Amino acid sequence: MEKYSVLGNPIEHSQSPFIHQFFSKQTGVEYDYGRLLVPFGEFEKTASHFFSQGGLGANVTVPFKEDAFRFVDSLTARAKGCGAVNSIKKLPDGSLLGDNTDGQGLILDLARLDFIVPGKVLSVLVIGAGGATRGILLPLLEYDCDITLTNRTFVKAEQLAQEFSQFGLIRAMPAQDVADRHYDLIINASSSSMMNELPPVPNDVYGYETACYDLYYQAGITSFLYHALKHGSTRLSDGLGMLVGQAAYAFELWYEFVPEMDPVLNVLREKLNQ
Ligand code: ATR
Repeated sequence: MEKYSVLGNPIEHSQSPFIHQFFSKQTGVEYDYGRLLVPFGEFEKTASHFFSQGGLGANVTVPFKEDAFRFVDSLTARAKGCGAVNSIKKLPDGSLLGDNTDGQGLILDLARLDFIVPGKVLSVLVIGAGGATRGILLPLLEYDCDITLTNRTFVKAEQLAQEFSQFGLIRAMPAQDVADRHYDLIINASSSSMMNELPPVPNDVYGYETACYDLYYQAGITSFLYHALKHGSTRLSDGLGMLVGQAAYAFELWYEFVPEMDPVLNVLREKLNQ
């Protein structure tokens, strides 16, 4: 069995093995990385078996990030902050450390794109109030973003904004009212693009200088980004870079340096569009 693996269900389409095999070649750090299908309700059993059989590190994907949070022995501050774990490291004493690299992966990609700039307070609209949003709010607030949070079901946005208000500037706003403010960056963290649908925000939020980022990615442009483009936004990106970014920080958890992300991102983009 590989010593590193991604655990999830479904898992056959996960790009993590490809990314980590690429990082291994690129950095010269030799590690084998596979994928494990976890039966629903059996995260603890599967993960315990993996680590007792010599596993040294794992990534965790949907729908087990909260199970992984409860499973590990200790947590990094950023995993604690969002209540979910996507990366696990076996420590020298045999205990398991849980981390969450999703938010930092997003920050890395936003910086690569120049969608965020160190030292500049940006007004950011975040759409969605599910697990994906929970994973990105803290790193954005730590980056001094001024966040407006909206969601199809408004009460969930209100709850999340309340929970994260201790970390920085964040307010919830019903979708129909969000165009009252100007945004430097709009992040679609809802799963609307997965269903080829659009989040319910007014078209006035999109503007020539507004950067738009969709956490979802697919071959070709997502429905959200296409809509933003039609309404005047020209700075657009999907979440493929975030996927690579979270993998780069998982690599850092295991090997203590961050690999360069552009080479694998370019190859993945080509692979996706083939
Ligand atoms: P994830 O863990 O990927 O964030 P989730 O917890 O199921 O998944 O949350 C999905 C998010 O996308 C929710 O904010 C959901 O809105 P609701 O809270 O109203 O359900 C949002 N979402 C899903 N489909 C959507 C759609 N077609 N339009 C707008 N928002 C949508």
